[in-house]
Amino acid sequence: MSLLTVENLVVDYGHIHALLGINFHVDEGEIITLIGSNGAGKTTALMSISGMVKKTEGKITFLGQDITVMKPHNIARMGISHVPEGRKIFPELTVDENLKVGTIANPRYEKQRSLEARDRVYTLFPRLKERLNQGGGTLSGGEQQMLAIGRGLMMEPKLLILDEPSLGLAPNIVENIFELITRIRKDGITILLVEQNASMALSVADRGYVLETGKISLEGSGESLLVNEEVRRAYLGA
Ligand SMILES: Nc1ncnc2c1ncn2[C@@H]1O[C@H](COP(=O)(O)OP(=O)(O)OP(=O)(O)O)[C@@H](O)[C@H]1O
Ligand SMILES: [Mg+2]
Repeated sequence: MSLLTVENLVVDYGHIHALLGINFHVDEGEIITLIGSNGAGKTTALMSISGMVKKTEGKITFLGQDITVMKPHNIARMGISHVPEGRKIFPELTVDENLKVGTIANPRYEKQRSLEARDRVYTLFPRLKERLNQGGGTLSGGEQQMLAIGRGLMMEPKLLILDEPSLGLAPNIVENIFELITRIRKDGITILLVEQNASMALSVADRGYVLETGKISLEGSGESLLVNEEVRRAYLGA
């Protein structure tokens, strides 16, 4: 059974048609990527899932339940954690405080569990542990991205949604982030990833979908998209 199913999703922002009826699904344990040019509708698709944009048409199902019109906090409680584009951490809070904010959405919140969740995050990101009392705003770009992902993991999600985690990061940090993504999946968390860096995204993904001005134009395994002529020309600069 699919963990997440998106059927005929249409989203309009006033007269702008951002999504024209897209279909895709994410199975448990998969890494799925959506790739596409600027303005294709990737962020809109992710925000539709986490309840942050109004859908014109379509149906979104998570764990067999219709979440199409559910409020964002209830969707988060069901186990969907969305790390938004542009690493929106709290600059005035320390690293540790930023992580604590992430437990607010945890439905099974208990002090002990949240401490365990935090330990897991610090194991995954030793750099954050070394800086736990440092102000979030003074972290480097890569460290802020790690903190944003770490905060997303604090609620122990079933599905982790990542919007452009590698944006603006140096190549070696980008590799770090992708390595982390595969480790998070090994911990049993399903991942839906949006990326400009299509070659990296397709090389870690089980399957991918290509979004072109609000429509899915291609889909397939990560490997097959990586060698697809159209994909290579349009998104891999080959
Ligand atoms: N709040 C909004 N109001 C009006 N138009 C919007 C709004 N948000 C997005 N759009 C438009 O919807 C389309 C899809 O935007 P979206 O942010 O989903 O694209 P994207 O694929 O994530 O692009 P990028 O790669 O640049 O992040 C774009 O044309 C954008 O201008
Ligand atoms: Mg976007």
